[in-house]
Formats: sequence, structure tokens, C-alpha cells
Amino acid sequence: MLRSPFMANSSPQRTGHPGSRILSVASYRPRTEVGNETVAALIDSSDEWIRRRCGIESRRHAAPDEDLVTMATAAASKALAGAGIDPRDVSAVLVATMSHRGRATTVAPLVADALGATGAAAMDLGAACAGFPYALATADALVRSGAAEYVVLVGAERMTDVIDDRDRGTAFLFGDGAGAVVVGPSQTSEISPVVWGADGSRSEVLRYDEEGILRMAGPEVFRWATSIIPDLAGRALDAAGISASDLAAFIPHQANLRITSVAAKALGLGPHVRVATDIITNGNTGAASIPQAMAAMPDTTGPALLVGFGAGLSYAAQVVTLP
Ligand code: UT7
Repeated sequence: MLRSPFMANSSPQRTGHPGSRILSVASYRPRTEVGNETVAALIDSSDEWIRRRCGIESRRHAAPDEDLVTMATAAASKALAGAGIDPRDVSAVLVATMSHRGRATTVAPLVADALGATGAAAMDLGAACAGFPYALATADALVRSGAAEYVVLVGAERMTDVIDDRDRGTAFLFGDGAGAVVVGPSQTSEISPVVWGADGSRSEVLRYDEEGILRMAGPEVFRWATSIIPDLAGRALDAAGISASDLAAFIPHQANLRITSVAAKALGLGPHVRVATDIITNGNTGAASIPQAMAAMPDTTGPALLVGFGAGLSYAAQVVTLP
């Protein structure tokens, strides 16, 4: 039998797992709630326009002491407690974010340190508002392969750091916060195969300008999102071997309540399917929006369809069993 040179020496052989699952979910919402009137005053807008065009009534803005690491750590710490996992048993910390502007090059090692996850690998994952489902697929692969046992996965954004509060196209839309899950081994597949992709040829519709401020061609992004979600969602359901009527919940990236409504209608979701509407009181929190929306429906269990989409352009969807 051929023997791999990589097996020759010290490292123990890793045994993977048949599947993985989400053990717990938690959210951190910054203390300061900001109503539409406050943001509208700077952009010649109104509470009525904002509610009508995107469904948002309020969002959270982080205070100076609520930096990305603090918020991500708070959500991750709560998720670990919920799962009953000791931070020292965490093998990997993944942080999905698009708004990191701190002096450290990546956020995840700081979060791992703050958690006391001293034995964990740590890395950031950049896929903008698709970051959470991208990172969830990565966590699932790590656990299945045996490269990791328990993974802490955080979506964290301080969008107020990268938004111009006088930009009419974005100032009212985005908010700050963090959401986290703990992923661990399972005898069955409770995170179904991801369906994902990217279209870098259209990256200019959501991009950072020379000052590092996010600029968005809103209507173009809106049309792109509503055109790709039905097919993406359908393929994710096929990959999970279920149909839309089997779903307990639909949790798309909270980009705009109208995008969620168009997608839910296109999927023909029945009244028994709980549709995430966390954007109403949370705004669009980028990579944090899906785990925050999951945490906002603690009484819902069963299969949930997650769909992420945004800058890149990047997109990803998968079905998970809610913990
Ligand atoms: O999370 C990453 C992915 N992001 C998204 O998926 C966001 C996708 N885009 C959107 O959600 C929407 O494009 C927005 C909510 C950002 C904007 O809504 P919209 O319906 O696309 O507005 P619009 O830019 O087409 O503007 C419609 C009208 C225009 O007036 P006219 O030309 O019809 O007279 C704008 O000048 O509304 C006007 N307008 C505003 N009015 C009040 C544009 N921005 C504002 C504003 N307040 N902030």
C-alpha cells in the first residue's frame, strides 16, 4: 500500500464526522437605537420614504466602546455558553465581516483571544453580505474533514465606520451588530450542501471609494438580488433534498424588506414558513444579518433556508436545521 509522506511523522491522523450542525445561535445588538427621523434629517429623506422603500423603522449604531471585536466577542461568548462549549475546546474562530478598519489586519485572532479560545485557528472571511453562508459552508467542511471539532462563526459589522451618513443611497439602510453560531459534529447532515458563486465582473455596483466609504448603486443591486434569489434558493433546496413546503423558516440576508418579500413570493412559501423580518428594527447589518435574524426567532426549529448576497458580487445559500 502506498503511504503518504504527510503521514510519516508526528501529526495524529484526523477523523472526520458524518455531518455537522449548528449547536447554538446568539446576537449582539449595540445599545443605541437610531430611528428613521435621525438619519433622514441628514439626507433630505423621511421616515415614510424609508419605511416604504426598505421596511426599516430603526437600526442600531455602535458607540465608541462597541468596536468590531467587542461586539463579535459578545455574540460568540453567548453562543458558546448556549452550546455549553468551553472556549478552550474551540478549534477555529471564523469572522465574516466587510467593515473591519482597525489596526489589526484581521479580527478573528483578537476575538479568539478575547474568548479564551487559546487553541483555535482564527481567520476572517470576506464575502460581504454573503459572508455568513460562505463561512458556514467552510465551518461544515472543517468539521466533516476532522480539521476542526467545534467552530465559532461570527458575522460582525460596524457599518457606520464605512458609511457616509450623508449618502442618500446607504445612510438609512445599514446598521451595526454581530451574530454568532457554534458549529459542531453530528451523525447526520444538519448543514446541507452550499450552493454558491460570484460575479466579479459586476463588482462596481457595490464598492469602496478611495476614502474607504461604501458606495452602492442601489437599484442595480436590488434588481440583481431579486433576479438571482429564486434560482439560488431552488438549487439549495434541491441540494438538501427538500422542497419549499418542508421549510420551517426562510432567513435571507436582511438587505431590504421588499427583497425578502419578492423572494418569499417567488418561492411560493406557505403561511407556516416563518420569514425573517429582523431588518425592521435592525437595519441591514451585512454579514451579521443572517445570524442576528436567526437569533431573533428562538422558538422556531426545523429546516431553515439561508440566502446571502451582496458585494463581490457574491452569493450563497444552504438549508440548515435551526438549533
Ligand atoms: O446588503 C447588500 C446588498 N444591498 C442591497 O441588496 C440593497 C439593494 N437596494 C435597495 O435596497 C434599494 O435600491 C434602496 C433601498 C437602497 C433604495 O430604494 P429604491 O427604491 O431603489 O430607490 P431609488 O434609488 O430607485 O430612488 C427612488 C426615488 C428617486 O426619486 P425619483 O427619481 O423617483 O423622483 C430618488 O431620488 O427616491 C429618491 N430617493 C430618496 N428619497 C428619499 C433616493 N434615495 C432617497 C432617500 N430618501 N434616501
